[in-house]
Amino acid sequence: MTTISPATIERMRTCRIIPVITIKSLNQALPLANALIAGGADVLEVTLRTDCALEAIKQMADAKLDAFVGAGTITRPSDVDAAAKADAEFLVTPGTTEELRTALKAYDGAVFPGAATVSEALKLRDEGFAVQKFFPAEAAGGAPFLKSIAAPLPDIRFMPTGGVSPKNARDYLSLPNVIAVGGSWIVPNDLIEAGKWDEITALTQASRDALA
Ligand code: 3PG
Repeated sequence: MTTISPATIERMRTCRIIPVITIKSLNQALPLANALIAGGADVLEVTLRTDCALEAIKQMADAKLDAFVGAGTITRPSDVDAAAKADAEFLVTPGTTEELRTALKAYDGAVFPGAATVSEALKLRDEGFAVQKFFPAEAAGGAPFLKSIAAPLPDIRFMPTGGVSPKNARDYLSLPNVIAVGGSWIVPNDLIEAGKWDEITALTQASRDALA
């Protein structure tokens, strides 16, 4: 199913910053998720870039956290199946091949396929994907690009990710066609490695407050 429910869009809007998380060690999964939730970020994208990513998603799903936990860096149809088995509630792709689009359509959950150009965005929209990841956001034209396409493509909304930071997040979030931004800056690897969960909560809270 490709339609994103209004409740899901509202949850992402309220979250504003979707943490893009790379988990290197499974024992980091729950403390990190809880630290982010405590800071107000309750939509979590766990990237499939590490061996324990799927297990981390499954652990978060089984823990029944008060969060919407999805899988990112979905690049192959087999990733879609694996993420579904791990009970990911949504999927995010950096770009979208034909094979991936087919697999995403069969997935029973919210999907945010990646687009970086007007033509890619239109193709996805025509196949039913009305909310897309804009990636790599800064390198592909940033907020000015999304602002320019808001009028001609009023029925497509975006979650920009890639180079989004405290310096430019507001530029994106002020646009009518942006529902939330994704970013790894609120999950710095050094804080995760050091288990500084309180600092991650504070950083998340401060980042969200700054963009309120
Ligand atoms: C992603 O996977 O969406 C990006 O790599 C995250 O980008 P960032 O690290 O620049 O926030």
